[in-house]
Amino acid sequence: MAATYLVTGGMGCIGAWALTHLQRSGARAVNFDLSDDRHRINWLMSAEEQADITFVQGDLRDTEAVKAVFAEQDITHVIHLAALQVPFCRANPPLGAEVNVTGTVNIFEAARAQGIGHIAYASSIGVYGPPSDFPPGLIAHDAPKKPRTLYGAYKVCNEQTALVYYEDYGISSTALRPYTVYGVGRDQGMTSEPTKALAAVAKGQPYQIPFSGTMQFQLASDVARQFILAAEQPLDGACGFNLGGGDPVTVADFVDAALEVLPAAQIEVADNPLPFPAGFDDSELRASFGAVYETPLAEGVAQTIAHIQRLGDGI
Ligand SMILES: NC(=O)c1ccc[n+]([C@@H]2O[C@H](COP(=O)([O-])OP(=O)(O)OC[C@H]3O[C@@H](n4cnc5c(N)ncnc54)[C@H](O)[C@@H]3O)[C@@H](O)[C@H]2O)c1
Repeated sequence: MAATYLVTGGMGCIGAWALTHLQRSGARAVNFDLSDDRHRINWLMSAEEQADITFVQGDLRDTEAVKAVFAEQDITHVIHLAALQVPFCRANPPLGAEVNVTGTVNIFEAARAQGIGHIAYASSIGVYGPPSDFPPGLIAHDAPKKPRTLYGAYKVCNEQTALVYYEDYGISSTALRPYTVYGVGRDQGMTSEPTKALAAVAKGQPYQIPFSGTMQFQLASDVARQFILAAEQPLDGACGFNLGGGDPVTVADFVDAALEVLPAAQIEVADNPLPFPAGFDDSELRASFGAVYETPLAEGVAQTIAHIQRLGDGI
């Protein structure tokens, strides 16, 4: 059977990039998303390119609708990204649990019904607790997970769900845990602020990033490619990997990368460190996959600014 990739949440930031890379590679891609708002996809693909993609509008919480898209579209590969991010889970915890927890169970159920043996899905570094939970240094992929946000708790539940589906039904899975994703399309969620700053200064407007601290930045395009690889190269077990992205850097370093491109940019950084550890060890990811996509920060920031400028009034 020809490969057909299901991307859930393809109207979102990472999903739009995943659909873009799949389309460029000539793969058949199906998007399943509650939203029909194509604004991020429009920033990445022409109308002609978008015509290669099958768009299915549906709710992840609806078990039958999820099963139907698997069956009707002959899905062979799964990249499950749809979720509600930290602020949305905080604002409406029951809805967050329905989408992030039940929705992920529905993906595994549909895979089981369809006889699909492997799933790639998005977890998050939000599965880990605050820096005080850990000794100094990068945090290992199998470090204890004691999140202090509901979003993180739901992602831990996803990883435990994946383990049970592997043990009970033999469905393997790869969870990738991004940190601060940036790039064109990153316009919502707690850590979208650095990208919003790039969008503002690319248009000559000042911006204040409301948090500081040391973290790892990952370019949305790279993250999407890593998810595609995770879907294409099944590993045995219910695996979870931190994404790295090199040595941790400060938000001020991110701003410096923008200033390299736009020396007159005005970006302030509030003195308000995020309550997450500085960095995560991705050596297990490197050992398990043939490729790790990692555009250097300076290059990724420059690419993002250039892309925003090309889009002009369209963004
Ligand atoms: N962006 C980051 O920095 C980051 C970091 C860690 C983990 N992640 C995870 O990566 C994944 C993708 O992140 P993103 O930044 O692209 O998210 P996003 O918020 O940009 O997009 C999420 C998409 O999910 C869709 N969705 C929401 N509820 C749905 C439902 N009930 N049914 C179907 N679709 C629904 C939304 O319409 C949206 O298009 C998420 O699982 C997120 O938790 C992201």
